[in-house]
Amino acid sequence: APDVPLANVKAHLSQLQSIASSNGGNRAHGRPGFRASLDYVQAKLDAAGYQTSVQSFSRSGATGYNLIADWPGGDVDDTLMTGAHLDSVTAGPGINDNGSGTAATLETALAVARENYQPDRHLRFAWWGAEELGLVGSTYYVDNLPSSERSKITGYLNFDMVGSPNPGYFAYDGDGSSGSGGPAGSAEIEQVLRAYFQTIDVPVQDTAFDGRSDYGPFIRVGIPAGGLFTGAEGRKTSQQAQLWGGQAGIAFDRCYHSSCDTTSNIDDTALDRNADAIANAVWTLAAGGGAG
Ligand code: PHE
Ligand code: ZN
Ligand code: ZN
Ligand code: CA
Ligand code: ZN
Repeated sequence: APDVPLANVKAHLSQLQSIASSNGGNRAHGRPGFRASLDYVQAKLDAAGYQTSVQSFSRSGATGYNLIADWPGGDVDDTLMTGAHLDSVTAGPGINDNGSGTAATLETALAVARENYQPDRHLRFAWWGAEELGLVGSTYYVDNLPSSERSKITGYLNFDMVGSPNPGYFAYDGDGSSGSGGPAGSAEIEQVLRAYFQTIDVPVQDTAFDGRSDYGPFIRVGIPAGGLFTGAEGRKTSQQAQLWGGQAGIAFDRCYHSSCDTTSNIDDTALDRNADAIANAVWTLAAGGGAG
């Protein structure tokens, strides 16, 4: 897999920050900053050769949108999806939550196009609306897939908060080694996501696979899933600070859901490592025949 350029990921974060700043300070569902964020991501994907579509839904008296982008080629009966939520809360610009997942996923998709990667599996990327209102966009997408289309999605990767300023390195516990686990196939996804961090000697801990982000609707219908996370309101323990550095007794993200979740609220090393891990996972999983 290519090394995803951190500078490119950070350029997307700067653009999302500008979009928020010129639209009342946020990129929330139903606000102009959300739609401007979607238009920004869609234009990049269209220019790179993706087939994009926008799915609309209605929630709380406002129209919400999911952006879906298909990379032409591969076995569509064996589709690997990768997604991130694009909306922020109304309190702030949402640069770690979830500009980070948005930008890292976007830059991975653009790396696929730059390399003209033609894997065995079909690749589809998604940027979800209204996650902050309760996984609304991703739930709408999964619930409205015809069963014949649902069965073609053989895996889903989710990235929500991957640049926390006092970072931990977490993988969703797909194999159930510290909780209940997920659909068959989630264990392999967890191992592939962890593999990149092994190559750079960064320890990874499990985080709950309990449906607290957009993979929830996928695992509820039995689609194997996984993802990475650098922590939200939880506090880093002293043991975790010894493992990873950073500040013990302080939240992984002190600006979680706040106005200070700006471009200053990002740890560049965490963002770079996670972006590279995402690309590694997409390359590795897309090459291996899953259901095909
Ligand atoms: N989904 C949460 C939010 O957007 C963040 C989160 C992601 C929490 C992953 C736990 C695990 O606020
Ligand atoms: Zn959030
Ligand atoms: Zn989030
Ligand atoms: Ca595990
Ligand atoms: Zn890198």
